[in-house]
Amino acid sequence: MNVLLTGGLGFIGGHTAISLSRIGHSVYIYDSLINSDKTSIEILNQICDNEIFCQIGDILDTKSLTRFIESNKIDTVIHFAALKSPFESISNPSIYFNNNISGTISLIRAMENNKINSLIFSSSASVYGPPEYNPMDEKHPENPINPYGKSKLLSEKILKDLAKFQDWKIIILRYFNPIGAHKSRIFGEFANEKSNNLLPYLYRVAKGDFEFLSIYGNNFDTGDGTGIRDYIDVMDVADGHIKSLEYMFNNDNYKKDNASIFNLGTGTGVSVLEMIELFEQVTGIEIKYKFEDRRQGDVGICIADPSKAMEYLNWKSKITTEESINNGWNFFKNNC
Ligand SMILES: NC(=O)c1ccc[n+]([C@@H]2O[C@H](COP(=O)([O-])OP(=O)(O)OC[C@H]3O[C@@H](n4cnc5c(N)ncnc54)[C@H](O)[C@@H]3O)[C@@H](O)[C@H]2O)c1
Repeated sequence: MNVLLTGGLGFIGGHTAISLSRIGHSVYIYDSLINSDKTSIEILNQICDNEIFCQIGDILDTKSLTRFIESNKIDTVIHFAALKSPFESISNPSIYFNNNISGTISLIRAMENNKINSLIFSSSASVYGPPEYNPMDEKHPENPINPYGKSKLLSEKILKDLAKFQDWKIIILRYFNPIGAHKSRIFGEFANEKSNNLLPYLYRVAKGDFEFLSIYGNNFDTGDGTGIRDYIDVMDVADGHIKSLEYMFNNDNYKKDNASIFNLGTGTGVSVLEMIELFEQVTGIEIKYKFEDRRQGDVGICIADPSKAMEYLNWKSKITTEESINNGWNFFKNNC
């Protein structure tokens, strides 16, 4: 199939492009470079045997996106393009709502202009908000606490209505905490100072950019007091998209209304201190850290129940956290 990846030069989109290309799909990327770099196109084409096509453009530009879909005879879309920092979204809500929600609406209109109606959407565990129980399944209440999470939930609701009232095929994937890098170690997460995620921060401390790793909160109700998250390798996340495409197009059981949302996580949690220990074991590099006060909105434990994805998509995570750290760190130290 000809698959359009909005935001395909980013961390998760780029890894999904590699996986799609490997199994014979033609990959077309549309990305504004707001959080990525043009050089990623060359890197992706170095890794992939079949050429990956890319146009630089903003999904808010419906006309240009309509033309791109038309001229490349796109069959289906995976929608990664979004701004993704929960903390940044608190200081810039309107930018997040415009990019993430208006961007999704613009994409829908460009798809309607071309009469294509199937889409896989990158959503996030942040739509759940503070966990009422762990592990969280897809029936967990939705109560996002920042504009980023709200922009994801509102986009989900718009897409669900297209499936309900129009003849759209929609799959929503709620990622937990993607980490790692492709095994080639030339494509990964190009972390910058805006990155709030633990692993890129840890890599920057290991590289000497910072003297200490600040750990926000050591009095959560967890074994060692530090926050526990569900870290999932980015190639496993990429595989979740492959399995979703197969399910959407080749499985008679696909039901657009009741089986369209899936968590992508491992089902197990790792605390900040455990992650530091794993990193030290894998790399042999000692990480200095200090404890700081909790940040507003941070929760103690956030773990996925991924059993629905196993049941419907035949998907589960395969890559160990040690392997993810190894690939992620080797990518980071050579490229960032
Ligand atoms: N990485 C995570 O921890 C995580 C967790 C849950 C959900 N997600 C979601 O997964 C998706 C991909 O995340 P990622 O980690 O690859 O992020 P990323 O920032 O690395 O990639 C997003 C890409 O989208 C592009 N983009 C953003 N706005 C655009 C626009 N208006 N028009 C065209 N391109 C645009 C950026 O330039 C970037 O290349 C996002 O929707 C994100 O919200 C990510």
